[in-house]
Amino acid sequence: MSQRKHEATPFKWDQVVSPEQMLVDLERELSRQRSLERNRSFQLVMETAESADTSDVPTLLEIVRLGHPTLRDIAQPVPSQVLGTPVFRSFARSLLASMFEAEGVGLASPQVAVGLRCFAYYVPSMRQEQAFEVAPRVLVNPTVSLGNEEVQDWEGCLSIPALRGQVPRAHTIHVEGWDVEGQPVSFEATGFHARVIQHEYDHLDGIVFLDRMPSTLSLAFEAEWQRYVLPRSREKEG
Ligand code: NI
Repeated sequence: MSQRKHEATPFKWDQVVSPEQMLVDLERELSRQRSLERNRSFQLVMETAESADTSDVPTLLEIVRLGHPTLRDIAQPVPSQVLGTPVFRSFARSLLASMFEAEGVGLASPQVAVGLRCFAYYVPSMRQEQAFEVAPRVLVNPTVSLGNEEVQDWEGCLSIPALRGQVPRAHTIHVEGWDVEGQPVSFEATGFHARVIQHEYDHLDGIVFLDRMPSTLSLAFEAEWQRYVLPRSREKEG
């Protein structure tokens, strides 16, 4: 999901890897894991891989746009055996890095053309003294239960650049899933936090925010939205 307003990013990257290469690396890691499970030196090799991982620089992934087939596919569950491995940690960090670089608040794996059920997100803080309401994280193989109350608000998407539209979403949700290391997570989210998760979760099922709009009447380009729509909605609130 794209941010409401632009903020300076503290991150810098100099390496770019294609989504195709990232998928090849993941597949290679999976087959390595399978062969290592039959090998008694598994532990030793894992330790070596982990120590090599510490010098790893997050790589920047290309964000694909509407029209790319991965955005309309049902993503596959992340295989549990890759959780906590160097290659999956590296992929998760790259997803976070690419999200910050694009000035987004959420980025789902299908948006970097990797059809896996995971996404990066964070919730920026409105308070000066605090950087995040919810710190940057990656959710893996999530399930989302929706509460009954719906609220309408503006959304944008890094795969649908420069467009904004009003989308109804559940105000409260319950989320279950795993973190990058394979630890289970379970929590309630409300408001903008719940909205970001619902938006990113939709990407795992090939759904974009345009599909959730009850009407295209609110659809606006970001520049025109800033200039005409936002002042009017503030007038209504005030
Ligand atoms: Ni999106």
